Parts: sequence; structure tokens; C-alpha cells
Amino acid sequence: MNPVLTELGGYPLAAYQDLKRELAADGTPLHDFSIGDPIEPTPQFIRDALVDGLPEVSQYPTAVGLHELRQAIAGWIERRFKIGVDPDREVLPTAGSKEAIFHLPLGVLDPRGERTSVLWGTPGYPVYERGFRFAGGISDPVALRPENGWRLELGEIDRPRLDRTCVAWLNYPHNPTGAVVDGDFYADALQAARVHGIVLASDECYVDIHPPAADPPGSLLQAAGDDRSGVLVAFSLSKRSGMTGYRCGALVGDPDLIAAQRLLRPNIGTASPEFVQRAGAAAWADDVHVAQRREIFDQKRTILLEFAAEAGLQVSGSQATFYVWLAAPGGDDLAYARALLAERVVVSPGRAFGDAGRGWLRLALVPSADGCRAAVDAWAAAIAAGRLPGHD
Ligand SMILES: Cc1ncc(COP(=O)(O)O)c(C=O)c1O
Repeated sequence: MNPVLTELGGYPLAAYQDLKRELAADGTPLHDFSIGDPIEPTPQFIRDALVDGLPEVSQYPTAVGLHELRQAIAGWIERRFKIGVDPDREVLPTAGSKEAIFHLPLGVLDPRGERTSVLWGTPGYPVYERGFRFAGGISDPVALRPENGWRLELGEIDRPRLDRTCVAWLNYPHNPTGAVVDGDFYADALQAARVHGIVLASDECYVDIHPPAADPPGSLLQAAGDDRSGVLVAFSLSKRSGMTGYRCGALVGDPDLIAAQRLLRPNIGTASPEFVQRAGAAAWADDVHVAQRREIFDQKRTILLEFAAEAGLQVSGSQATFYVWLAAPGGDDLAYARALLAERVVVSPGRAFGDAGRGWLRLALVPSADGCRAAVDAWAAAIAAGRLPGHD
């Protein structure tokens, strides 16, 4: 067996799925905030585009993807960030952002060279590390802190460490904390990455999921302007358009880095089927459904944040994404999550996202608004009855 498999252990959230299944076995519904997979239907026009895209003869999709899809992605980037990108050289469709993140090092990492590590923030999405480890690289996690808004500050990292770095991954809006950053943050990160010859990669799969009244989060692409050298950004339709099951995303940025991925990817064979790509093109071309989804998540976010304020629970980040990030009263995230399970409320203990997540709880805004209300009622009743601590 590949030793990396045993070293990394199981996928960290898999244990929660098992626990949930055990609990759900008695048939009583659970209030499940643990897995970031929304339940809102995929808009009808996207489903129609998929069905209309079904060919009589189905052949292999190409790694470069349909021009129609690349153009739709470039069109969204233009509308959303006021940036023009070349759909032929700077846009690469992917089968969701996860596989793109996982496979990226296979196109940029020389495991026999000097620069073999990946910098990534913890608590964080584990795939930045996992992709590198499986590609023969080294994981170099950086502990993020609430005091500075969970920002991964490349400027604070010492030089020898930066000189060993092949790729630095940013992820804002951030999973699991929901923290956001501004344009200055990206400009500083880009400057530091360029000084040290690091590829700066930015996972922006939640960039469209923000409170409707807030300024939309920006992109690393905006900070890079016309010079996209050393920059790659991952986008996704999963959360933006309710398409987690379709597997449709994109890498956008430096044409040389995109060219390396194009060279790599026919070896892997992960391109989305062309009928999925046609549905993806329809989704990227429309912003109305995304605004509707933002309203739905905002309603749920508000229910949870109001409850947190009433119960005196400390909230951090939670400015965008569909995650709410709370300090676990008493400080033990696992103990608190287990106690909440007894109330049939399922949350993720922060340690599932790395050691720096200890003491925190992540709630994914997956249950319906009514489900959110029922869950906070159950939670509040447990606090009132003394079965759970409210605040420290
Ligand atoms: C931070 C982050 N990046 C990437 C992904 C992968 O998303 P997808 O592969 O569905 O685009 C997720 C999924 O939850 C995520 O939280």
C-alpha cells in the first residue's frame, strides 16, 4: 500500500458521516450541519441544459473542455471581477475544484527538486495537503488565528520556509471559518509569492456565497491585474449553482501553468462529461439563480447568528461561505459536538479541519430555514435545561 494512504488516515469528515448514519438509523430526523453539501435544488434551466446536452453518441470529453464552457467561465469572470481572461489560454474546465486542487501539484511540482512543499492554512480544507503528499511533496501547514481574521500571511513566514515552497494555497472566503479578505491582502500575498518564486494558488469556490447586503468578496485575479504569472485560481459551480453532484469547476490564471495542467490532464482522464459541461456553461452564464441562493443562505445564516448572539456564543469569521464558525463553550470542540449530538444536532468539531481548529465548531447551512429554527430551538432548550453550557 502507498504509505501516504496510511500516514494520512481516512478522509477526516468520513467519521462524521458514519456517526450520522448510526444516529439516523432510528428514523428520527437529525439537524445535520456537518457536511457542506447543500440541499437546494439545482435550477431547472441547468437541468434542462444537461438533458439537452445528452448526445446520441457519447464520446470522450477532451482535457481542454468545450469552447462554449470556457467562454461562459470567462464571461462570468468579466461580469463578476471586471477582468478579461483568454478562454483559450487562461481558462481550464475541471471536474469540480477538488480534483483540480488535488491534481495541481502533478503539473507544477518536481519532487526531486529544491521546492517541494505546499503552504496552506489550518484549520482548512485538507485537499491542498493531500494533493501534495500524493504527488511526492511535503505538507507545510500554517496555523491561522482568530486575532488576525484567519488570514494566511505569507509575509510572516520565514525565508528558508518560503524558499522551500512550491505552491502556497489561499482560500477566501474560507472553509471552515467563513472569513473573508480584501484586495490589499491579495496584493501583499502576491508580492511575497513573487519575491520568493512561489506559485500562488487561490481556492475561491465560495466567492459567490456571501450575505447579499455585503460587498462581494474579491479575487486574487483582480490583485494580479494583467500580469497573471505564477497565479492560479480555482472556481466551482458546486456551491454557486447547487451543482455539487455535477462536478464542474475551473482553473484560471497563468497561461504557462494552465498549459502544464493541459499537458497533464489527458493522463488522468477526469474531464467532466460534455453534457455536464453544457449544463455548466448555462450555469456560469446566469447570475439570477445565484442571487436567489444567496438569499436562502442568508436567511439561514441570520437564524444561526441571532441564536448565537442570544445564547452568548462567540462567533468568528462567518462573513461569507455557508459556514458559521463558533467557539465551543468550555473549549473542547469534540466534547461539545458530542453533547450536541445527544440533542440530534450534528456539527463538525473544528479539529476535523486541523489542530488549529480545536475549540471551534463549524455549522454548514444545509438544513432548511425551518430546520435551522428547529435546531436552534433544540440547542437553546438544552442550554436552558443545563444539559449544554451556553457560554464561558
Ligand atoms: C474550500 C473548498 N475547496 C474546494 C472544495 C471542493 O468543491 P468542488 O470539488 O465541489 O468544486 C470544497 C468543498 O467543500 C471546499 O470546501
